[in-house]
Amino acid sequence: MGTQSGSRVLPAPGSGGAKLVKFLTSSVRLGLTAVWQPRALYREFYKKPEPLRELPNRAGEVVVLTGGTRGIGLQVLTKLLQSGFHVIMGCRSLLAGGEVIASIRAVGITTGSCQVLELDLKSLKSVYTFAATVLQEVDRIDLLINNAGVMFSPYEITENGYESQFQVNYLSHFVLTSLLLPRVKETSLRVDKHVACRIVNVSSVANYGGKIDFDELEECKVYVSTKAYADSKLCQILHTRYLDTILRSEKHIKVNVLAVHPGTIVSELWDNLPRFILVIANAVKGILQTTEDGANTIIYTALSPKLEGIGGVYIANCEIVPPNQQVENVHVQQQLWERSLELGKL
Ligand SMILES: NC(=O)c1ccc[n+]([C@@H]2O[C@H](COP(=O)([O-])OP(=O)(O)OC[C@H]3O[C@@H](n4cnc5c(N)ncnc54)[C@H](OP(=O)(O)O)[C@@H]3O)[C@@H](O)[C@H]2O)c1
Repeated sequence: MGTQSGSRVLPAPGSGGAKLVKFLTSSVRLGLTAVWQPRALYREFYKKPEPLRELPNRAGEVVVLTGGTRGIGLQVLTKLLQSGFHVIMGCRSLLAGGEVIASIRAVGITTGSCQVLELDLKSLKSVYTFAATVLQEVDRIDLLINNAGVMFSPYEITENGYESQFQVNYLSHFVLTSLLLPRVKETSLRVDKHVACRIVNVSSVANYGGKIDFDELEECKVYVSTKAYADSKLCQILHTRYLDTILRSEKHIKVNVLAVHPGTIVSELWDNLPRFILVIANAVKGILQTTEDGANTIIYTALSPKLEGIGGVYIANCEIVPPNQQVENVHVQQQLWERSLELGKL
């Protein structure tokens, strides 16, 4: 039907009935475990995340960020520069990246530095090239924030043969993390390093609607875009938990891996939602969180001294909360890890 950067948009597989069952099962799971819990509702729609009282000075340190061109990522980028970091930003368009930096400088933020490198998460080749360039450019990586994402995309198979939400949100970030990890570990051992390095996976409350089925992990037999998004966000938390456990068992290595839900925030991420939902969402935007609130939660997860030494957790609105129950299943964590190592090979 359509082609974009080596991927193909195809008719969504599965009969209407099978799709309806899948949609309802996932939505009910999400509703019962997250949305209709009073505490979760309070966290999602009432409580505002508290920004760090003071951004720490991290001049001389390096952060790799995906998806800083707009939405929540743009606010995260701004705060990282305010902290003094050297930011390596991976984005699809170098031009868009350059314009974003110029817009941040134009409002008078002069601290930190930023280098924009090309990265298309729909292509594993692009991920490998990006990682190789990062490793050539910097001798330390103190922080990695896997933020870029897509939501509810039409059924699309990437040039690598995988469903696009699975690849963009999860698999490509899994590969990127694996490729940069040796440098992150080396950084954690540096004598000038006084805090642990962190890897932050930007997940979503949608994880509660997910359930990993290894028979259709990377290519769906029945495609429902909401369920595929939920699964990709659940994969990120399973990865977070498993990688953190591995790193904890490695002597002297101080790298913590955390997952975060930034909040329900109207952004371009929502563009695939039906028009009437967008109209309602825009009408009630005032009571939802803003991209700045979302960035505050991500920055809290990435930089807060309160989280020093803590990892493997899922954070929403600056609180550690239990994620989808499947995250506790070590067998699923391990199976996903092993399968991802295979799928991520070029
Ligand atoms: N907004 C919410 O309600 C919400 C809720 C829960 C979780 N989240 C998560 O928060 C993160 C940021 O969301 P957002 O609301 O800020 O979304 P957004 O405004 O749509 O921004 C998404 C970012 O991801 C980048 N991106 C998309 N596809 C990419 C690809 N193939 N390769 C490289 N970069 C790509 C975009 O870059 P381009 O400029 O190149 O498109 C953009 O910078 C996502 O992981 C999302 O799942 C958001």
